[in-house]
Amino acid sequence: MGLFSFLTQEIAIDLGTANTLIIHNDKVVVDEPSIVAVDRMTGQVIAVGKRAMQMHGKTHENIKTIRPLRDGVIADFHAAEHMIRGMIKMIHPEKRLFTPSLKMVICIPSGITEVEKRAVRDSAEHAGGKEVYLIHEPMAAAIGIGIDVEEPIGNMIIDIGGGTSEIAVIALGGIVCDKSIRIAGDEFTSDIEEYMRRQHNILIGERSAERVKIEVGSAMIEIDNPPPDYAVHGRDLMTGVPKEIYVSYVEIAHALDKSVAKIEEAIMNALEMTPPELSADIFRTGIYLAGGGSMLRGLDKRISLKTKLPVHIAEDPLRAVARGTGIALKNIERFPFLMK
Ligand SMILES: Nc1ncnc2c1ncn2[C@@H]1O[C@H](COP(=O)(O)OP(=O)(O)OP(=O)(O)O)[C@@H](O)[C@H]1O
Ligand SMILES: [Mg+2]
Repeated sequence: MGLFSFLTQEIAIDLGTANTLIIHNDKVVVDEPSIVAVDRMTGQVIAVGKRAMQMHGKTHENIKTIRPLRDGVIADFHAAEHMIRGMIKMIHPEKRLFTPSLKMVICIPSGITEVEKRAVRDSAEHAGGKEVYLIHEPMAAAIGIGIDVEEPIGNMIIDIGGGTSEIAVIALGGIVCDKSIRIAGDEFTSDIEEYMRRQHNILIGERSAERVKIEVGSAMIEIDNPPPDYAVHGRDLMTGVPKEIYVSYVEIAHALDKSVAKIEEAIMNALEMTPPELSADIFRTGIYLAGGGSMLRGLDKRISLKTKLPVHIAEDPLRAVARGTGIALKNIERFPFLMK
């Protein structure tokens, strides 16, 4: 550690559609929903992360909440920059005499365009990043899972986040083929909102729909340990008054079926594109799942039945990408696939 090393701070950021994580000194120091609350009149940011999430769906006319990322990429540049800034501040809440210059690794979806990539880099630089490296999410996920990505062995990684599902085959430190679709956890949530409206004439908010997904969401009708029915609260579309309805996991499995089928289709596509030598490897190694969306009940089993391959869920799916990004940060010289 150099004499002036306190002047530079090294951080790894998983800038996700749903959650943003920051790793500093090998530890997850920030794990917050990707959302900011803004004063409509002054444009000032009032809250970032969990505090802003508590306001989501409950704001009055002077406050609005913004989720700066959509489908894995920055949709609101200004809000994204404030969010990154706010979250970096959370690392050291105590007041500092000066801001250290930041060396950071940020992950990006593999299907990202040049313009979208530029937006991530610019936000990071505006938020204080002096040296910014980018890494593709599936690569970060693979490293986070503990796969030796530089080996001449093919591995298939599927990262099902909030905004995107990314399917990639990795070998020799590179992404051999990949497929990214904009259907993931958020789509499951809106499927549930839509289903409740159509089927039960009840309007529920995004946060309630997400709760339903976590409590009774399922990718299959036949699962081990089915959860009990869950009480959902919302507004009756007919009478306008608050209402309670019990939903079962079977109903939700039906509501999610179309979106899950689209993910399956993308996986089949990616497998078809895979060069045969790597297919042979994947036959042995199987498929690795990461991202919060991979925690949907029965999803691993459904993918395994469809592909006839073994499917493994990462140990801590919500943090695999962040962990991998953190490892990349410590090995910048060793990983030539990091983009400067
Ligand atoms: N137990 C669970 N069952 C099903 N879905 C879950 C569960 N826990 C979290 N999720 C979903 O996982 C998603 C968030 O996952 P994650 O944090 O990996 O996404 P992200 O990295 O922010 O998004 P992206 O990578 O697409 O930009 C949300 O849609 C959330 O509802
Ligand atoms: Mg992610």
